[in-house]
Amino acid sequence: MPVDPKGRTEAGYVRHAFICAHERPDGAARPSCRPKQSLDLMRQIKQRVREESKENIRVQKSGCLDHCEFGPTCVVYPEGTWYGLTTEGSIDALIHHLLTGEVSEDQTLKLV
Ligand code: FES
Repeated sequence: MPVDPKGRTEAGYVRHAFICAHERPDGAARPSCRPKQSLDLMRQIKQRVREESKENIRVQKSGCLDHCEFGPTCVVYPEGTWYGLTTEGSIDALIHHLLTGEVSEDQTLKLV
């Protein structure tokens, strides 16, 4: 039976953020998140969360989340809260959400 090297006894995370790192070729019909520096952003957010929390919070890249026009796109579980990380306010709101569980609805992704 394998043993978890981090001492966990259950699978899962307190909060789990997926940040799209998908890249489409030039001329594609839809935009993509990686050319909008989503990987650098993901690394910065991951570092901040590591520095500021000891909780079991996971930040990782993902494939296309299919809200490409609003990216860099991010979704946080277990809440299922979506962000379009296009402003300092939305990035700060995501970090605050990850650290505290509090969601600022005015900074979440709206499709209108
Ligand atoms: S390319 Fe990022 S959501 Fe589709």
